[in-house]
Amino acid sequence: MEATTGRGADFLVVANRLPVDLEKLEDGTERWRPSPGGLVSALEPFLRGRNGAWVGWSGRPDLDLESFDDNGLLMHPVRLSSEEVRDYYEGFSNATLWPLYHDVIVTPVFERSWWDSYVQVNQRFADAAAATAAPGATVWVQDYQLQLVPGMLREQRPDLRIGFFLHIPFPPVELFMQLPWRTEVVRGLLGADVVGFQMPLGAQNFLWLARRLLGLESSKAAVKVRSRPGSVPMDGRHVRVGAFPISINAAAFDELARQPQTAEHARLLRAEMGDPHRLLLGVDRLDYTKGIDVRLRALRELLISKRVDPADLAMVQLAIPSRERVEEYQVMRRSIEEQVGRLNGEFGRVGRPIVHYLHQSMDRDELVALYCAADVMVVTPLRDGMNLVCKEYVATRHGLDGALVLSEFAGAASELTSALLVNPYDLDGVTHALERALTMDPREERGRMRALHRQVMTHDVDRWARSFLDFLDPPEPATVTGPEPEPAIGAEAGSR
Ligand code: ADP
Ligand code: F6P
Repeated sequence: MEATTGRGADFLVVANRLPVDLEKLEDGTERWRPSPGGLVSALEPFLRGRNGAWVGWSGRPDLDLESFDDNGLLMHPVRLSSEEVRDYYEGFSNATLWPLYHDVIVTPVFERSWWDSYVQVNQRFADAAAATAAPGATVWVQDYQLQLVPGMLREQRPDLRIGFFLHIPFPPVELFMQLPWRTEVVRGLLGADVVGFQMPLGAQNFLWLARRLLGLESSKAAVKVRSRPGSVPMDGRHVRVGAFPISINAAAFDELARQPQTAEHARLLRAEMGDPHRLLLGVDRLDYTKGIDVRLRALRELLISKRVDPADLAMVQLAIPSRERVEEYQVMRRSIEEQVGRLNGEFGRVGRPIVHYLHQSMDRDELVALYCAADVMVVTPLRDGMNLVCKEYVATRHGLDGALVLSEFAGAASELTSALLVNPYDLDGVTHALERALTMDPREERGRMRALHRQVMTHDVDRWARSFLDFLDPPEPATVTGPEPEPAIGAEAGSR
């Protein structure tokens, strides 16, 4: 799966976004900057070392861009019109599938014209991949925006090895069954050779749906997919289905955190905030699934009940702007900003807000300095496929200090069991966990962080990608010494 050659790319990632986003600056000039979100954070470093190619959208509508080389990674931009951004991206992807796959935290909208656009755009991505892949290449399709691509691509290019990975949760069957186009989506995914999910429960739900909607019996009883992958017969092939929990480039975070200038930067950040006794941190895309409101409410409870002294405490909440034209995101932003204003109005002092709220993207060095500065990382999503932020925080804690408050409903909770796990729907529970984290005995903190750090440092993104790709395209028999590679399956978070 190494290089990109004259005959096409031998290894290709297909994702809604390119790893770089074309941004228009106020003076009218343009620049490429890293795209938001966990998919890019995880995959980009893996691919950069491998001369791969990437098919994706530039983040701006109505632009025809040529393919280009970005530091050894070949980018193939796909054009989206303004109407497609509205109907395929903001509409079907982010107002239908996103809420449906996240436990219907907000009500999904089912709109036929959005579905039509989703089909049309998926076809365009499949066409672009078909035109770019070398004969026999490996093509790795990513995430919920492109679930029809595996089937469409197989129709044109049966010679390819096609993998699909879903970065977000795959929903319980009774929720998925609401989707008017449920059969088409399951059939689209089954165009792949391997369909990967974050959690075993997602794989299990998918196998159940393949049987129910397409009459395809899996080779193992669905319930057994908890520990081993299943496989579904489809048009004379066997589609394998498993769980592959994604991770981060842990060594890069660790290395950056160990730099003396990062420690100095962290010290300065704390000093600028008045050297609070304890510093809490939240880092998220501004998304209603992330439970930013939950942690702000819990913090207010703590302050109202005087269990912590506002003079001892500060919180930084970073919120990277996201999907700003989707109505639910606008509603949520207003509500979070109101909460921040209320907290600061009630408990801040002149020049010393309780919550430092930043609605902006931050570069990696500064983000790591913030992780290093924080005593308590608060990650409280109502539902999250994995959540990489909590793993990034842990990777920066080589000193084994710091506490992690983590929602049970993040995929990461099944690996990071030494965190203070909370049910984000239980305000008292979250408040109590915050208090515990803020007052934890250093020995307990160290013991917990040691276990978390070990887990994250030994399960990095490279291991994740290799386990998926070895499963998709097993190494040559001569080099195989053990049994067939198996996906890394963890225990699931929560149960349904
Ligand atoms: P999602 O994929 O839903 O956005 P993840 O937690 O899996 O959630 O990944 C988020 C990624 O975005 C992480 O790599 C994190 O470092 C990055 N990120 C989040 N907020 C910011 C911010 N304000 N500035 C820069 N990067 C951010
Ligand atoms: O998996 C989470 C995810 O939706 C990715 O697919 C996406 O790249 C990222 O979050 C950011 O979202 P968006 O591309 O809509 O800004």
